[in-house]
Amino acid sequence: MKKISVVIKEAVEDAFVSLGYDKKYGMVSISNRPDLCQYQCNGAMAAVKEYKKAPLVIAEEVADKLKLSEEGKIFEKIEAVKPGFINLTLKDEFLADYVNEMGGNDNFGYETEGKPKKIVIDYGGPNVAKPLHIGHLRSAIIGESIKRTERFAGNEVIGDVHLGDWGLQMGLIITELKHRKPELVYFDESYTGEYPSKAPFTMGELEEIYPAASARSKENEEYKNEALQATALLQSGNRGYLALWNHILSVSVADLKKNYENLNVSFDLWKKESDAQPYIPDMVEKMKADGFAHTSEGALVVDVAREDDKKEVPPCIILKSDGASLYSTTDLATIVERAKLFNPTDILYVVDKRQEMHFEQVFRAAKKTGIAPSELNLTFLGFGTMNGKDGKPFKTREGGVMRLERLIAEITEEVEAKMADREMDEETKHTVARQVGLAALKYGDLSNQASKDYIFDLDRFASFEGNTGPYIQYTVVRIRSILDKFLAEKGITKAELDSFFADKKLVKATTVSERELELVIAKFSDMISLAAAEYAPHKICAYIYEAANCFSAFYHENHILTEQDEARKYSLLKLSYITEKIIVKCLDLLGIDAPERM
Ligand code: ARG
Repeated sequence: MKKISVVIKEAVEDAFVSLGYDKKYGMVSISNRPDLCQYQCNGAMAAVKEYKKAPLVIAEEVADKLKLSEEGKIFEKIEAVKPGFINLTLKDEFLADYVNEMGGNDNFGYETEGKPKKIVIDYGGPNVAKPLHIGHLRSAIIGESIKRTERFAGNEVIGDVHLGDWGLQMGLIITELKHRKPELVYFDESYTGEYPSKAPFTMGELEEIYPAASARSKENEEYKNEALQATALLQSGNRGYLALWNHILSVSVADLKKNYENLNVSFDLWKKESDAQPYIPDMVEKMKADGFAHTSEGALVVDVAREDDKKEVPPCIILKSDGASLYSTTDLATIVERAKLFNPTDILYVVDKRQEMHFEQVFRAAKKTGIAPSELNLTFLGFGTMNGKDGKPFKTREGGVMRLERLIAEITEEVEAKMADREMDEETKHTVARQVGLAALKYGDLSNQASKDYIFDLDRFASFEGNTGPYIQYTVVRIRSILDKFLAEKGITKAELDSFFADKKLVKATTVSERELELVIAKFSDMISLAAAEYAPHKICAYIYEAANCFSAFYHENHILTEQDEARKYSLLKLSYITEKIIVKCLDLLGIDAPERM
């Protein structure tokens, strides 16, 4: 189906064109004076310069033309007002038909625009052997939602977790293990046999080993050098170290998978930094041979500064003076790898905005040296920090780094306490509390523009009222309970609901709240197209919040179940039903479940 804004725009454009004006002036937007009209066109004002006419004159001409045209029949009211706005209000019949048709269409009539993109999304980005903390939470939540939205919008999407499994952190763990268990066969240089298939540590031990090693290396220079050396040995292929690294990886990945599953976040690829390493030698050779990489203070660098830079952009370091590769080298090689394996049109990085400079350097180096195909779009979506009420990065009550598992457990508990009086068995209650808790967490995050920092306020996020995940879920539950009553009254099953409504039509709205709800529903495709183009899940949140509020007004103003006029009753029910389906779909795009009851 054509987006509602397109249907309106085309009608207005035609009026402009038939009067000899350029098509581009026929742009329309949602009215910013909903008390006066539903949509508006500001093109007459923009056309003044080109046609040297008063804006109101142009607006009046266009309005008159539109009123007489066939396409203008969708409007109830077309008005030219000072200084040159064209105010537009749709006919209730048209709106009802449009929403009705959406209800009968796959994806509510959304149609993919243009050629589908092939997007690799780099999100999650956890580091193996380190517990998942809320720093990685935002990446997972935002990335998952973008993945789902892009897919819905018709793009091909490959979600890659891009594990941090290479570099000093591995050397640190290996060094600490060596200190604790020097007898392990992995440290015996003369050993040539097979290594045991079982890891010599548990995840719990690993989680304790890394912070211990990291703290020690900060205090002890010798220890730090040992770790650096271990890292170099691992990277140059030491058998025992590689075997240990494999153990660390498999123990860690199993744990990470469980954690992400609990969050309802998934990845198509479990690639890791180490996978890009084989691409480094050729890449570096090419950069050198093409004259892009040069030696500076012993290191191999690519200059990426530009004359018009407002902020200094330092050279991108490709190899350190000891020949070791860096985070930037790995990211460059990963671009080479992704281009080769998937030939994507886009790579999107959902990473903490504090890494913005790193990505700026990497993107510039990739484009300048030609290791990234020129038509490949590299996009950095930097997200802000989740802060506590004190405005500082969120911590546990004791002041430590908050682990994801604990955060989820605490939120679930909070919601469960709120639901104490519900008549549900304990198991169901727990499951629902978890779904609601995750909604509180995810919606609290996604409803902000990603780049902004936000304050994690559990009381507010978990509230069943206001702009929160639980409120939206509650709206769904409410609609479902209305539909359930109707099903019981009619003696039909849930599965029959689709076919029941298939031949029922929406009749024209007779109440304000009904019309407003329809207007919100009608702009679903417009919203999706923006959310997808701008990688902006917060637009989906804003949309469902508006839909939920409109539904609430609609529910109070109309007597859905007791309506006497049967055609109208079915219309009200069908509108409720479509609203429920759309909100549930949007929640799904945000990675949020809709419980049956709560
Ligand atoms: N592992 C990194 C970190 O924890 C994030 C990785 C982001 N993705 C990337 N391609 N660099 O900071």
